[in-house]
This record gives sequence, C-alpha cells and structure tokens, in this order.
Amino acid sequence: MSRISSSGLASVYDSRGRPTVEATVVLESGSRGRAGAPSGASTGAHEVRAFPEGGVPAALTTFRETVAPALLGVEGTDQATVDALLHSLDGSPDFSRIGGNTATAVSVACAIAHAEEKGEPLWKVLARPTVDGSRFPAIAGNCLNGGRHAIGGPDIQEFIAYAESPRPEESVAAAIRVHALLGEELHRRLPKQALGRGDEGGWVAPLGNVPAIELLAEVCARVRDELKTPVHPGLDLAASEFFRAGQYRYKEQTLDTEGQVAFVARLVDRYGLKYLEDPLEQESFDAFARLTKEVGDRTLVVGDDLYVTNEERLRRGIERRSTNAVLIKVNQVGTLTDTLKTVDLAGAHGLATVTSHRSGEVPEGWLAHVALGTGARGLKCGVLGGERVAKLNELLRLGRADRT
Ligand code: PGA
Ligand code: ZN
Repeated sequence: MSRISSSGLASVYDSRGRPTVEATVVLESGSRGRAGAPSGASTGAHEVRAFPEGGVPAALTTFRETVAPALLGVEGTDQATVDALLHSLDGSPDFSRIGGNTATAVSVACAIAHAEEKGEPLWKVLARPTVDGSRFPAIAGNCLNGGRHAIGGPDIQEFIAYAESPRPEESVAAAIRVHALLGEELHRRLPKQALGRGDEGGWVAPLGNVPAIELLAEVCARVRDELKTPVHPGLDLAASEFFRAGQYRYKEQTLDTEGQVAFVARLVDRYGLKYLEDPLEQESFDAFARLTKEVGDRTLVVGDDLYVTNEERLRRGIERRSTNAVLIKVNQVGTLTDTLKTVDLAGAHGLATVTSHRSGEVPEGWLAHVALGTGARGLKCGVLGGERVAKLNELLRLGRADRT
C-alpha cells in the first residue's frame, strides 16, 4: 500500500505521428509507473472521447488543474479507488471532460507502479481469480490493411493471421511468417505495383476483397505446412465503416443485412476463417446473433465497435447471443477497472476475450500483460512496426519468465 506522491501528464506521439498523452505516477514508496494511451481511427460511435474539446493541450491543462491535485495522497495501489476518482473528476458519461486517454494513461501507470511496489510483473497485479498465467493467448496479427487504415486497399479493414499455438513463440513466428510470405506473393503477383504498408503495419495492395481473403488463406495454409503451427485466416471487417443507408457498400457489391450475413457465412466456410471481427455494423445485435448461430461453432465472432469494451453493451449482446467473443481495448472505455468489469462479465457467460491494440499505438508492451492477466483467448496487436513488435516481444518475455 502506498499513496501517490506526484503525477504528471505529457504530450507524446503515437505510431501515426499524432499527439497523444502519457502519464507518470510516483508512489510515496518511490515506485513509479509510466504509460501512454493509443488512439483509434475507426472508432466506435459508443466509445469514450479520447481527448476533451481542444485535444491534447486541453487534456494537459485539465490534468494539471483538476486531476493531478486530486490524485495527490490517494492510495495508488488501489486501482478501483483511482479509477472511481477519475470518473468522478470527469463527471461525464464518456470521459469528455478529462479525456479517455488521460484516464487510460493514469489508470495503467498506477497499475505499473503497483506492480513495481509488489515486485511482481504487471500481469499478476491484473490477474483474474481463474488465471495463473500458464495459458498464453493466440496472436491475431494484421497482415494486409484496408478500410480506414490503408488508402487504395480493399474495403475490409484487416486481413489477419490467427495463430493459436499454446507456445507464444510459435504463434508469433507463424504470424510474422504469414506477413512475410504475403509480401513475397504480392510482389510476385503485382510485379509493377509499389507495395505500401498501412497504419497497423500490414501490406497495402490494390486487391479486391475476396481475392485478398483467398490469398491470405493460401499463405496461411503454406505456413501451417512449413511451421506445423495452427495459423488460420481471420478478418476484421470494421463493417460500420462501409455501412451507409442500411447497406454494406463494397467496391464490388452492395448488400443488405441478410445478404451480408449470408456472404460472411460463406467466407467462413470457403476460406476456413477462425477469427471474424465486426462482420456487421455496430447497432446490429440481432443480425450478429443470426450469424453467430450459423458459424459460431467454427470461428470466433468478435464484437469491437458493437461493444466498445462497455459492460452495458456487452450485457445486451449476451442477452441476444450476438457473439461468442468480445474485443477488449482499454481506452475504448477509459480505465482498467471498467475494462476488467467487461472481462469478468464475458467470462461469467462463457465469451472469449481478445485484448487489442489500436491503429495509432504507443511503442510500449503493457498490452501483453493485460492479455495474459485477463486470460484472453487472443492478443490482437499486429505483426510489424516497432509499436506492434513491442507487444509481441513482451509476450515472448512473459513466455520465457513463465517457464523458468
Ligand atoms: P482502430 O481500429 O484502432 O482504428 O479503432 C482497430 C480495430 O477496428 O480493431
Ligand atoms: Zn475492429
């Protein structure tokens, strides 16, 4: 137990070069924690606001004037108290006064300071009662980018290698291999085309949606053979981004809701998808349920924009059996305490959780601890780029620490 003796908030940059915030918390014992908060591009309509009106400068001012003085002397190792204080200082339903990214950075920095105080890894401080750290998450690695993360690519936002070895080093190696082979294949098939990389480090190429899935599935099959690791194709459609006036508008086709359910179900079977995130737009709890009923026995159906890590929205999804999994992003909901409530609700109803990065990330590894400590089925953190590799490398370290 140790009280907060000082705290600070500073402006740093995310992987897109946009400003975000990082918090530092120092306890009376001298233990300290520092954490930065990421930012999304395809943000869900029901997420908390990352920054107050006025952006990062306004967040810094509000922190200095309101948050830092209130944190002084608070028990820094008592996560629930710190997070409740952040909510009461904010007073809005969506962290629009102090900013969700301020809440995330302070909340995680406190947990890091707590871990240092106890001399334990962060994941243990976060660990849920059923978690002993022996089961490692699968890796959901984004290999080809589209949608809002890649100009000129497919409409589907993310083409994912979903690698689910119990050994993290095998899953990480398989996801990286899929990314590399996909790059080679794209060079071979599009020799005159300059290949780029999107916001999450995946390739960007002028491919149609279905040919891109087909190529990903082929490459995953080759890597399964080569590395003997279970790695399968997955998608984050981020479907709200191309849903307009009641229809899903792809470059090649326009589908109504039932058409979309049928199209996606066909993709699952034809290409052996094992990971399916946001296949429908963010208000379609019932259409999600129809799709999950059809394919939920053979793939994860994951709600991201649907739930925005929010306990109340997840409750609606559980009642309607909308999905069998929920994406967990700390800064969608603000604090670690809010996040853990959603994780616990999912666990109580048998839903899998997948801990996720954002498209604009900070080059830090704490997300891997959130995944391990919450018993996540998967860690979705991309494959390439220092800010993505920071999380993969941290998971590898945790894998080594666990075995020695
Ligand atoms: P975002 O996208 O971080 O840009 O919101 C990631 C995702 O949709 O999973
Ligand atoms: Zn998503």
